[in-house]
Amino acid sequence: MDEKRANRIGWFIFGGVALGVVALGLLASSILERREQRGAALIQMQQPIKEWEADNSKWGVNFPREYNSWESTKQIQENTAYGGSGHRDYLERDPRLVVMWAGYPFAKDYNAPRGHFHSLEDVNGTKRINDKTPGTCWTCKSPDVPRLMSQIGPGKFYAQHFKDLKHEITNTIGCADCHNPKTMALQISRPALIEAFRRHGKDVNKSTHQEMRTLVCAQCHVEYYFKDKKTNYLVFPWDEGLKAEDFQKYYQKVGFRDWVHAISGAKMIKMQHPDYEVYQQGIHAFRNVACADCHMPYKSEGGIKFTDHQVRSPLYNVANSCQVCHRWSEDEVRSRVTGIQDKNREMLDRAEDAITALHLEIRDAMNRGATDQELEPAREKVMWAQMSWDYVAANNGMGFHAPQECARVLGRSVDLAQQGRLMIAQVRARRGGLDFVKVPDISTKEKAQSYIKPFVDAQNAQQSSGGKKADASPAKAEAALKKITKR
Ligand code: HEC
Ligand code: HEC
Ligand code: HEC
Ligand code: HEC
Repeated sequence: MDEKRANRIGWFIFGGVALGVVALGLLASSILERREQRGAALIQMQQPIKEWEADNSKWGVNFPREYNSWESTKQIQENTAYGGSGHRDYLERDPRLVVMWAGYPFAKDYNAPRGHFHSLEDVNGTKRINDKTPGTCWTCKSPDVPRLMSQIGPGKFYAQHFKDLKHEITNTIGCADCHNPKTMALQISRPALIEAFRRHGKDVNKSTHQEMRTLVCAQCHVEYYFKDKKTNYLVFPWDEGLKAEDFQKYYQKVGFRDWVHAISGAKMIKMQHPDYEVYQQGIHAFRNVACADCHMPYKSEGGIKFTDHQVRSPLYNVANSCQVCHRWSEDEVRSRVTGIQDKNREMLDRAEDAITALHLEIRDAMNRGATDQELEPAREKVMWAQMSWDYVAANNGMGFHAPQECARVLGRSVDLAQQGRLMIAQVRARRGGLDFVKVPDISTKEKAQSYIKPFVDAQNAQQSSGGKKADASPAKAEAALKKITKR
């Protein structure tokens, strides 16, 4: 090839590339423009939405696509292996839970979460609610909550009784929980999240857009506790960090406990649903994938792209939820998820067996006349073993959000429970208890509930008699104990 010709080809290629770059630039700017147009269209509302508007249909007038998909959270589909939008009674599935929560309302009733549309129906239907239930329990159920809080302040809201607020709370989880009514930007409406960030010196509303796509969920899908019985002020225990050990450290520091176990007499802590905290320990959080990326993926309707507001199990919608990032077949995606979940379930089972046994062994030692001082070390172990187990068990997704962390925490739980069993074996042995304590027949929810009933009744009777020093073996509980036959 002569030099002139090569030069000409060189210029030709250069010109082509330059033209391509210009064309791409034009395309990009037109996309940006369109995005801006979409942004502008957003705030051109047919009917302006007033501040703290709790009625979802008022928002729906302006945003029918988002509204309709939001309303679909009322749909009930066949359950997936471990999740899904249908009814699932956790106590029926796993009656050991009844024994592990003896003396606490969760032993009465505990079902899998359903779609946001059912939030009010489900909270009103649970047997865990009674006349003394604090108003705080409404906090994650309705956009009427931020509306009321804006009127009376959060402190006054929490301090009321659940039953006294009921007539005010009529709209299920919706638009005002996550959006600013003027700009439609994502917005944090719950004080507990704002306050938890503030204690770390951070302003949650200064988070990035991608972070907000997770933080709106972290208003509710988190571990929490009520600061004291008088104010019932809602607090996220995040001051030491978000891991199970950090919660342990926090609760040790503030000296908070949820209840006294009716069988073992151990002071206990119940985890709520630390979905955000567990997710934070996983690969997707590390890679900046938000809750909304999987649970609220984009959807197209007539060429218009919008956010699918049917928040649900991503396994109903693998194409939009997972396959936008993972080039795996749908079967492969599913089998990776259930593969993780099966392993998590197996570890949960091991922990539950060890913890249940430990509660019963402590009880046996009490019956043999062991002193509180002798029992304390094993009770301490069962408290932290169960708290660690619950960090994983109460978090939704059956381990998927952070598989390795869940396995680690469950390993810790089993270890703590077995340490407690070694300790209590010595205490029992000193009093002639050389055999294993046999776990009674708790093969159904009803059997487990009738097994714990005498212990719970005895505890209630003792509490209503003025909370005097615990009688280690009240008569009724004694009768129940005879059912723990020895091998
Ligand atoms: C990488 C995708 C992904 C991300 C990110 C993600 N999840 Fe999930 N989530 C899943 C999968 C998969 C399941 C399991 C669904 C099943 O078993 O049917 C699940 C289950 C759940 C469930 C239970 C659903 C059910 O039907 O039982 C809840 C609640 C949940 N996630 C909340 C969250 C929250 C809150 C966040 C953010 C803090 C989050 N998820 C982040 C994929 C994700
Ligand atoms: C649980 C939180 C949550 C609730 C409840 C919620 N949204 Fe959204 N919404 C989001 C998220 C997350 C996005 C995506 C925002 C983004 O990435 O910019 C979004 C986006 C939107 C957008 C922007 C356009 C789009 O589709 O991406 C509109 C409009 C909207 N939502 C309307 C509504 C309406 C109307 C309701 C009530 C019927 C509602 N939202 C309820 C979280 C929520
Ligand atoms: C205002 C509190 C609140 C907010 C905000 C919230 N949730 Fe929920 N979420 C709940 C409650 C309460 C339930 C259980 C409702 C029931 O069982 O009736 C639930 C249920 C769910 C379920 C189970 C649905 C099913 O079909 O089983 C998923 C998944 C979920 N939420 C994910 C999210 C994600 C993702 C976000 C953020 C985009 C979010 N939630 C924001 C309170 C909230
Ligand atoms: C927005 C993109 C995105 C979405 C959506 C997403 N993922 Fe991922 N996923 C990632 C990234 C990034 C990683 C980390 C890959 C790495 O760092 O090697 C990852 C890792 C994983 C892994 C671990 C792979 C391993 O290392 O063993 C699994 C399993 C997984 N994702 C499943 C899912 C499922 C199931 C869904 C849908 C519910 C989903 N992902 C949705 C981006 C995404």
